[in-house]
Amino acid sequence: MNNPFSLKGKTILVTGASSGIGQSTAIECSKLGAKIIVTGRNEERLLDTFNRLEGKGHIMIIADLLDEDALAKLVEACPVLDGLVNNAGYTIMVPTNFISRDKLMQVLEVNTIAPIMLTQQLLKKKKLGKGCSIVMTDSISGVKIASPGNVLYSTSKSAINGFVKNAALDLAGKNIRVNAVCPGMIVTHILDDSAVSIEDMTEDMRKYPLKRYGRPEEVAYAIIYLLSSASSFTTGTSLIIDGGFTLQ
Ligand SMILES: NC(=O)c1ccc[n+]([C@@H]2O[C@H](COP(=O)([O-])OP(=O)(O)OC[C@H]3O[C@@H](n4cnc5c(N)ncnc54)[C@H](OP(=O)(O)O)[C@@H]3O)[C@@H](O)[C@H]2O)c1
Repeated sequence: MNNPFSLKGKTILVTGASSGIGQSTAIECSKLGAKIIVTGRNEERLLDTFNRLEGKGHIMIIADLLDEDALAKLVEACPVLDGLVNNAGYTIMVPTNFISRDKLMQVLEVNTIAPIMLTQQLLKKKKLGKGCSIVMTDSISGVKIASPGNVLYSTSKSAINGFVKNAALDLAGKNIRVNAVCPGMIVTHILDDSAVSIEDMTEDMRKYPLKRYGRPEEVAYAIIYLLSSASSFTTGTSLIIDGGFTLQ
């Protein structure tokens, strides 16, 4: 039986695969038959992801996406891709009056510049095949909400929202689709850097209509939809996955 959600025969690069949403995405994609290229900085954690992939033929590449040489080597090492998941991300919590150029650049470099330049270089080297699907991990902070201390992160992710729409238009002629997932709070290591106490998080979870934060695989399944041929007429969209948080 034809399964439009199958990833059999597809080759997919997942950035930020050493942790959280990226790790879950890589593992779940492998279960659906994809060959995965996992990349991240932390060798031990990336190897853990790599060892948990199902099937054969996967590739693991250590790369800091802020290092231009490492980025070029990653692009060089990639075969032609059917899917690209630009997922690596980072946050620094700071109120607007304490923004510094340094902090702004740190967040923009990881969340905005690196995924855009990786996409551009893969395109230039003809590594994104016809029918390729690009999925960006955006955030509800990039499309819907503001929250205290989140100005740098929200700014970096809002730029991704613009990129998705414009790149989708530019690349439609090549039958390359560009979409985003926009998660609400998902339990991953990124929350370790958010400077929010456990008590505040527990209180915050109560504001979610589904009364909890999300799990990484709940974002991975949406990414899989956007990578698969089940979404072949979907491009330029940003799919909110937030337990109903932004409905209120
Ligand atoms: N968790 C949430 O609540 C939430 C909500 C909305 C959106 N998101 C977005 O989801 C994405 C994944 O986040 P997560 O929650 O899974 O976070 P995470 O567990 O902290 O994982 C972040 C990943 O990004 C990688 N990374 C960071 N800087 C990098 C760099 N310079 N070069 C290469 N890789 C780098 C990390 O690699 P190493 O560990 O190897 O350094 C790690 O694999 C991010 O884009 C984030 O903004 C998360």
